[in-house]
Amino acid sequence: MAQQNDIQPVLAEHDTKMMAWGPLGGQGAEGVIKSPVLAEIGAQYNKSAAQVALRWLTQRGIVAIPKSTHKERMEQNFKIFDFRLSGADMQAIAALNQQDAGFVNFHDPQFVKYLIETYG
Ligand SMILES: NC(=O)c1ccc[n+]([C@@H]2O[C@H](COP(=O)([O-])OP(=O)(O)OC[C@H]3O[C@@H](n4cnc5c(N)ncnc54)[C@H](OP(=O)(O)O)[C@@H]3O)[C@@H](O)[C@H]2O)c1
Repeated sequence: MAQQNDIQPVLAEHDTKMMAWGPLGGQGAEGVIKSPVLAEIGAQYNKSAAQVALRWLTQRGIVAIPKSTHKERMEQNFKIFDFRLSGADMQAIAALNQQDAGFVNFHDPQFVKYLIETYG
């Protein structure tokens, strides 16, 4: 899970919302769904690790559109608006940041400014 925390303020300057590329960790979703940290946090609220991940994103104002081929998971993924993660929960999840954004450095605010200015 790579978090691009420096980018959100730059997007806010342009009244633009950040969107999760793979809100559950992307195709396969091994890391996020299997995270014991998310599972432990979810147990406090009777929620799954996936629900905790989606709540963590939406609570930070990040758009999350998870994909699932299972109807029950689709339904589960909508049920994230009836609980609120604590500050300690939010910090514990933030600490899972793997700093891996792939071949382009999306962590660089200057690169994001370049994209906005070039492509609108
Ligand atoms: N336009 C673009 O450039 C672009 C790029 C990347 C992604 N996207 C889109 O963004 C969306 C999300 O991307 P993504 O599919 O890579 O990643 P994702 O939504 O983060 O993860 C999807 C994976 O999570 C599993 N999953 C979903 N809900 C779950 C739950 N409640 N519990 C356990 N596992 C769950 C899915 O398995 P099952 O299907 O087996 O349930 C699938 O393996 C997709 O609609 C994708 O098409 C678009």
